[in-house]
Amino acid sequence: MAGVSLRHLFKSYGKNSPFVVKDVSLDIEDGEFMVFVGPSGCGKSTTLRMVAGLERVTQGEIYIGGELVNHVPPKKRDIAMVFQNYALYPNMSVFENMAFGLRLRKTEKHLIDTSVRQNARTLEIEHLLGRKPRELSGGQRQRVALGRAIVRHPKVFLMDEPLSNLDARLRVQMRTEIIELHRRLETTMIYVTHDQTEAMTMGTRICIMKDGIIQQVGAPEEVYMRPANMFVASFIGSPPINFLEGRLRLGKEGGLVFDTPRFALPLSPEKSKALLEQSYVDKAVVLGIRAEYVHRAEDVPGLGLPTEAPIRGDVYFSELVGADRFIHIKVGEDKIVMRAAAYERVADGTKLELALNPKFTLFFNRDTQQVIA
Ligand SMILES: Nc1ncnc2c1ncn2[C@@H]1O[C@H](COP(=O)(O)OP(=O)(O)OP(=O)(O)O)[C@@H](O)[C@H]1O
Ligand SMILES: [Mg+2]
Repeated sequence: MAGVSLRHLFKSYGKNSPFVVKDVSLDIEDGEFMVFVGPSGCGKSTTLRMVAGLERVTQGEIYIGGELVNHVPPKKRDIAMVFQNYALYPNMSVFENMAFGLRLRKTEKHLIDTSVRQNARTLEIEHLLGRKPRELSGGQRQRVALGRAIVRHPKVFLMDEPLSNLDARLRVQMRTEIIELHRRLETTMIYVTHDQTEAMTMGTRICIMKDGIIQQVGAPEEVYMRPANMFVASFIGSPPINFLEGRLRLGKEGGLVFDTPRFALPLSPEKSKALLEQSYVDKAVVLGIRAEYVHRAEDVPGLGLPTEAPIRGDVYFSELVGADRFIHIKVGEDKIVMRAAAYERVADGTKLELALNPKFTLFFNRDTQQVIA
């Protein structure tokens, strides 16, 4: 078992090509489940493949278990990688696929046998050991790929979108299985996905990337509740966070008010104080609020400070998403999504007065897009 450290890592795929991984520094602790998440092309796979030794490092250092591995070949890094396409050997049986890595290492035959059977039992594929990959379902193949990685007892597991070929139901099931597997093995895992839900449910920590640059690293709750910038705020969470543009002005009571042409929203005393200290009076800012903190004003009397210009909007669309209903509301030019219970039907065209929970509003600098309170 081992931790993984990335130090000022850069990657470009050619002499005159731009960097696709830029100054990535990160310490992944021994036994941690770290998820790399971000949009397509942001450099997740490239980073993972450098850790695996499948791509050369352009600049920077990679340490596995404290050892500099930049020039250590993949086979000697003691890692196991699981890919999206499973990459099973088609002509080998499930048993042979799982045993392959151990055979290469010249492990004794009876030890291979015990290990493969034991792990196959855990993954509930023991009855499939004699079959060829083509005789398996997608989920079964994925389990074999996992099994092949596990039997080797690597120091680190690297997984690149291992579930994206599975249907939605199986994906959720395998997600749980991988989480349990990690709890049991306590081996360091680095897991790549573009799916924020997968990242949020699986990671002990999440590393959010964009354009080759780390945007934020933190526990799921942390990146959800305290995003570092507008990108993280909107990438994490479903439905995406609501953003509203406005200006901060000094209110009658001396606190700050978030002002737009349509409504004015007094800030909580703490936020007001923080933003006054940062001299944000009369500056343009972006307010972020998640759909679950948007309410019908009549449902939450007394929430927030009294305001002279309430938020009034029209429902233009609502969608049922399992136990929730997302109600889309137009407030002038702005659009706000409110999360309600599924049974709360609201007809399109309904006029609503909204209340935003001031405790959960986020404020961003409009130019830098960084969080300011
Ligand atoms: N072998 C390669 N040669 C040249 N450019 C590459 C190569 N592999 C990846 N890239 C480029 O590097 C950038 C990062 O790619 P990478 O595969 O790391 O993204 P990703 O975050 O894994 O995306 P996805 O979610 O689509 O898998 C992209 O712009 C991609 O086009
Ligand atoms: Mg990728």
